[in-house]
Amino acid sequence: MLSALDSMHARRSIRVFEPALVPAEAIRRIVDAAGRAPSSKNTQPWRLFLVQGVALAALRADYLAAFDAGEKPRPAYRYSPDPLPPAWQARAKEVGIGILKHKGITREDTAGRRAHDRENFEFFDAPHVFFLGTDGAAFGHGTFLDCGFILDNLMLGLASLGYGSCPQYSAVSYPDILARHLPADAGTLFIAGLAFGTPKQDAPVNSFQPARLPLEAWFQVVG
Ligand SMILES: Cc1cc2nc3c(=O)[nH]c(=O)nc-3n(C[C@H](O)[C@H](O)[C@H](O)COP(=O)(O)O)c2cc1C
Repeated sequence: MLSALDSMHARRSIRVFEPALVPAEAIRRIVDAAGRAPSSKNTQPWRLFLVQGVALAALRADYLAAFDAGEKPRPAYRYSPDPLPPAWQARAKEVGIGILKHKGITREDTAGRRAHDRENFEFFDAPHVFFLGTDGAAFGHGTFLDCGFILDNLMLGLASLGYGSCPQYSAVSYPDILARHLPADAGTLFIAGLAFGTPKQDAPVNSFQPARLPLEAWFQVVG
């Protein structure tokens, strides 16, 4: 098992998975540990759904049908400012180009780019997907922070045991479809999905690791 620090270094977004299931016992261990995440006043505002097997196949089919019918994503919240500040936009563009390059898709390859987009809506064909939600009537900005802690714990817990994951805003593109498939309370706000499983080792896109800014660009010691 990797240490916390080693897990942080080892984790990266995985976009091609082996079909094999992660043992239920390992998933339970990871979820149990992830639930130790802190939250303001210990409110633990998250709800987590693990979707797999025939339930995931049915959800995937409805997501792909919506995507193929050209339905615009209709997430329940806006993730980022629109437009992004120019420096953020530059990094976002670099990631987009990097992913496509590692998949052998050129800028001119419209069909290839659409096929890549489509893979988001089949959750990268992962054998499992977590869906993270919270109470849509009660949330504040800090609720997203609390939920982010558990999402990161899940990713790091998976990485510590050698599994891979991809956090996905795209997985909450159609909240009405999620509401039909998941036993969520009415009014649940779906925040993100997390596709996970065993990484396919020889898939070039899985080796893609977007660069990080040097520490000096965002970290300052005061005093
Ligand atoms: C909340 C969240 C949502 C994301 N949504 C998507 C997504 O829908 N599709 C995707 O391919 N990657 C998605 N990503 C992955 C980011 O592109 C990725 O984390 C970033 O480029 C850094 O790369 P790394 O995770 O490999 O370190 C998401 C990441 C986060 C944190």
